[in-house]
Amino acid sequence: MMRKLSKKQVALYYKYGHDIVKYNLGHRTLAKISGYSKHACDRVIKYTRQHGAPNPDDAPGGNILVIGDAHSQPGVEQSRFTLLGKVIEDRGRQAMEEGVEFTVVNIGDWADMESLSSYDVAKRSFEGRRYKHDVAAAIEAQELMFAEVSKAVRSYTRWVLVLGNHENRINRTINDDPKLAGFMSVSDLKYEEFGWELYPFKEAANVHGVHFAHYFASGVMGRAVSGANIGRSLILKTLESCVQGHSHILNHATLTTASGRRMHGLSCGCFFEHEEGYASTGNAMFWRGLCFLNNAKDGDYELETITIKRLRRMYDMELK
Ligand SMILES: [Fe+2]
Repeated sequence: MMRKLSKKQVALYYKYGHDIVKYNLGHRTLAKISGYSKHACDRVIKYTRQHGAPNPDDAPGGNILVIGDAHSQPGVEQSRFTLLGKVIEDRGRQAMEEGVEFTVVNIGDWADMESLSSYDVAKRSFEGRRYKHDVAAAIEAQELMFAEVSKAVRSYTRWVLVLGNHENRINRTINDDPKLAGFMSVSDLKYEEFGWELYPFKEAANVHGVHFAHYFASGVMGRAVSGANIGRSLILKTLESCVQGHSHILNHATLTTASGRRMHGLSCGCFFEHEEGYASTGNAMFWRGLCFLNNAKDGDYELETITIKRLRRMYDMELK
């Protein structure tokens, strides 16, 4: 009788069990393609031969950490990105130990790109804005975050970034003034160089059956799903589990079909602490923190939320 697999080996079994059966993989080959030790591969192969390929219905869910609109910009202190890196490191390690997949989803508007704003052009607030400073702030934010993430967690994690309207200002600027093509592009932000899997503005990434986009369009004008019940509206508009950023508001709803399929709609708040001038009294409605979609599988998950304020206390990184 075979001993039970460790949590990591269970993850390996669910990921490669079918291939082990289909291609009759040996432990050396499996170690090469999976990055696991030969010993772990040997155990999983023996287990698979005894028990057969895994049933996908029994596979464990994955953990997803969602970063809301972070709006890195020049002149606004960036220690929240160090804090974020520390949280990712801890949650990533935990997922590795438990043998569950770990994904970080960046919901877009990581870069504020205030120099390309069309909202306050020629106004006093616009003075001194520079494209290169905007780009530098977004790159520094990534450097601060990744500095806290170990090599092991970095390679274990799936990094997903769906572009927001603020990053899309770069494409809009080029569209409006095509001679700038070749001088600026979203690639200046180095997202892919840092390891993010990149999705265009308004396109959705699917992680464990949950769809992530900066926002989902509602109606023929393609405006963002909004209102007091964004979560519920998201489900009703898409009939899928969806997460969006953009409004900086926290709102969550679930609906379940007659057959028991649970759908979630989530507006994930934001990840910055400063006040946004354009929003005036709206600032009070912003929810500032991180959302954790734990045990995510086929669009269902267990939601956990933590405010930046609480994270700062937990990591002893109070804002000066
Ligand atoms: Fe935003």
